[in-house]
Amino acid sequence: MNVNIMNVDYSTKIPNNVNLGADRQVLKALEGWHPGYMNWWSDMGPEGFQQSLVYLRTAYSVDPRGWAKFDYVRMPEYRWGILLAPQEENRVIPFGERYGEPAWQEVPGEHRAMLRRLIVIQGDTEPASVEQQRHLGKTAPSLYDLRNLFQVNVEEGRHLWAMVYLLQKYFGRDGREEADELLRRRSGDADAPRMLGAFNEATPDWLSFFMFTYFTDRDGKMQLHSLAQSGFDPLSRTCRFMLTEEAHHMFVGETGISRVVQRTCEAMRQAGITDPADIARVRELGVIDLPTIQKKLNLHYSLSLDLFGSEVSTNAANAFNAGIKGRYHETQIKDDHRLQHDTYPVLKLVDGQIKRVDEPALTALNMRLRDDYTQDCVKGLLRWNKIISTAGYDFQLTLPNVAFHRAIGEFKDVHASPDGVLVDEATWNRRVNAWLPSAADGDFIASLMTPVTAAGQFAPWISPPKVGIDNKPGDFEYVKIES
Ligand SMILES: [Fe+2]
Ligand SMILES: [Fe+2]
Repeated sequence: MNVNIMNVDYSTKIPNNVNLGADRQVLKALEGWHPGYMNWWSDMGPEGFQQSLVYLRTAYSVDPRGWAKFDYVRMPEYRWGILLAPQEENRVIPFGERYGEPAWQEVPGEHRAMLRRLIVIQGDTEPASVEQQRHLGKTAPSLYDLRNLFQVNVEEGRHLWAMVYLLQKYFGRDGREEADELLRRRSGDADAPRMLGAFNEATPDWLSFFMFTYFTDRDGKMQLHSLAQSGFDPLSRTCRFMLTEEAHHMFVGETGISRVVQRTCEAMRQAGITDPADIARVRELGVIDLPTIQKKLNLHYSLSLDLFGSEVSTNAANAFNAGIKGRYHETQIKDDHRLQHDTYPVLKLVDGQIKRVDEPALTALNMRLRDDYTQDCVKGLLRWNKIISTAGYDFQLTLPNVAFHRAIGEFKDVHASPDGVLVDEATWNRRVNAWLPSAADGDFIASLMTPVTAAGQFAPWISPPKVGIDNKPGDFEYVKIES
């Protein structure tokens, strides 16, 4: 049978391009999981707006040239589906000890536990971010932003489905149990928290949301890229399609921060403020001062760095050797893809100083992925700084040093300033409110978070976007609010 896997079958309860109709057992498992998912969505998904019509994109194909269509949808009626990128013919394992062997279509028995764990960890982050963002709808700065929030939320929900499909199809009973656990844990819950630190933090305001989608979704991008290289082909195909959706999440973050920076610069200019560090005067204008934006950036970047795990990690080496998790753009790297004899420079704490030390490349894979991540992060900073310099201000947003504010890895037991100077506890305590958002900063930002729900209107602390979603005009009603 020649199934057109580019197009998605929407005739079934669970849209898919994996021929679920012919896979009774998995279909049954997914249908069994579905009510629990809907309960989770109603308990932990966006608060309010469930009856509103939201202008959302839904994937109807996995063809990268055209895969989504836009329409008004009530979120609970969004068609969460199982979508895998097309199977590449004769794909081989692109790295590790089994380099060059045919990719696996079934789980290799000896790597079952490792593979399941990686899928569960990835799966756990997807609903977590929805939980973290569930209160934001009621303070959205515009209908455009509200729509973007909900788009991100429904797609993170779909990413959960994607991981649950892999668990239920390939991991039998323990896969089904893990799928249930994914609905049981809750972000920030004392008894059953989400698995990774950054996914248990609050997302209290819209600047946090933009920082989260820029920095934390970007960690997701790096992890998905590594898993998209996997020798386990169904995982690779799943992640490849998720990356298509993920790009929009980071777009929301990057442009969101751009628009905040833009608005702040405009307001400062209009008021004749020359010193961006004159926080009190800037805040009087009802916009977020650049030093506070920097503090938010410091927080979200450092929390996101922790997601890469320890710089030196035998787990990472094992996953690579096994052919389970590769490097960013693995197939484009010019080396032997085995790394048995290579080294990689790792930032470490040596005699109280931050130094680069060569480590075996295999155990340094987390560090390498984190370096790739940092490089990817820099692009947004260049754009934001361009806005600031074009407005005539001598101020630069920067990424803090990797030793700053870390809870995992080499630097978890020391304090460092954002520019990477090690400081003692007393100095840290004295300076921390200058480096990370304080309670007062949070209160100020919260005071700006009043919702704007008229089409084409924007809260005064953020600029309108340059272009609409799906090329819609500026006054388009992205959400038809129904309470
Ligand atoms: Fe996701
Ligand atoms: Fe995302």
